[in-house]
Amino acid sequence: MSSTKLNSIAQAMVAPNKGILAADESTPTIAKRFKDIDTESTEANRQTYRNMLFTSPDASDHISGVILFDETIRQTNNEGVPFPEYLASLGIVPGIKVDKGAKELAACPGETVTEGLDGLRERLNEYYDLGARFAKWRAVITIGDGIPSDACISVNAHALARYSALVQASGMVPIVEPEVLMDGDHTIDTCFEVTAKVLDVVFSELDNQKVVLNGIILKPNMVISGTDASNRADVATVARATVDCLTSHVPNEVPGIAFLSGGQSSEEATAHLSAMNELGPHPWQLSFSYGRALQASPLRVWNGNEKNIEAAQTEFLKRSRLNGLARTGNYDPQMESA
Ligand code: 13P
Repeated sequence: MSSTKLNSIAQAMVAPNKGILAADESTPTIAKRFKDIDTESTEANRQTYRNMLFTSPDASDHISGVILFDETIRQTNNEGVPFPEYLASLGIVPGIKVDKGAKELAACPGETVTEGLDGLRERLNEYYDLGARFAKWRAVITIGDGIPSDACISVNAHALARYSALVQASGMVPIVEPEVLMDGDHTIDTCFEVTAKVLDVVFSELDNQKVVLNGIILKPNMVISGTDASNRADVATVARATVDCLTSHVPNEVPGIAFLSGGQSSEEATAHLSAMNELGPHPWQLSFSYGRALQASPLRVWNGNEKNIEAAQTEFLKRSRLNGLARTGNYDPQMESA
């Protein structure tokens, strides 16, 4: 695959005023989300829910791509059109989560390594045939007492680069996601330090394994205080720290950075993105690839009830539109109640 083709997919994923919907929750994770609304996690209910999101009127005004799960990429909309084909017909790039999850890292208590490299080449070929044009792999880094260890950062970065090289060879764009978790009472300065180190090791591995940087999308955490920190940093501080960290540790050739929301409230995730874009222009597009921050409120409105589908789609569209505005720094919290 030529780097020009990869770059044009990457550019479409971070098109202006739009962002990516991460709807790739694994079966156990979506079951947890459904449990919160007392809804059984059956295959039919999962199809109903994802169909509701993807067929929201005007979704493509603000959504550039959707990350699917293995089950979903094989499902159809209510008219029998396969989801990837349906999304592509709207100009939304279909993508696929390909990692097999974060597993305990031997000899490193409290840390994980993401698995899924064995057989990946064959799975990628199948996903390409099913219509996927990008892939996602999430590595998880935890901040705690004496962690992250160098070993944890190194094995996860190595796996991200192995995955990325294979994804590019199969004609798709890798989303490179090294997530430094928000869990804990650490300060924003600690998050900055760890995020900077992780990014350095990840880009060094990508370079070493000949990954073409203009054909990836980086999906990082924001530089933010731990969830349980006292005196959590405010929106302006998070925006400044995140932009400073990325400016010093992400090469300019990377076409786009699409943040994860990582447990921030929907409103916080939108406000942070908007504040960062206000600090622009930046060498890369600064966009979103949110799961919870796009889905939490529509999920609540839906509540597992057919009758609420239209209202839930309206809510999904609202979150997508507000994040779309945040792409140019034009979000204002007052728009939440408008
Ligand atoms: P959150 O936005 O809920 O963190 O999910 C994004 C994602 O895809 C995590 O891998």
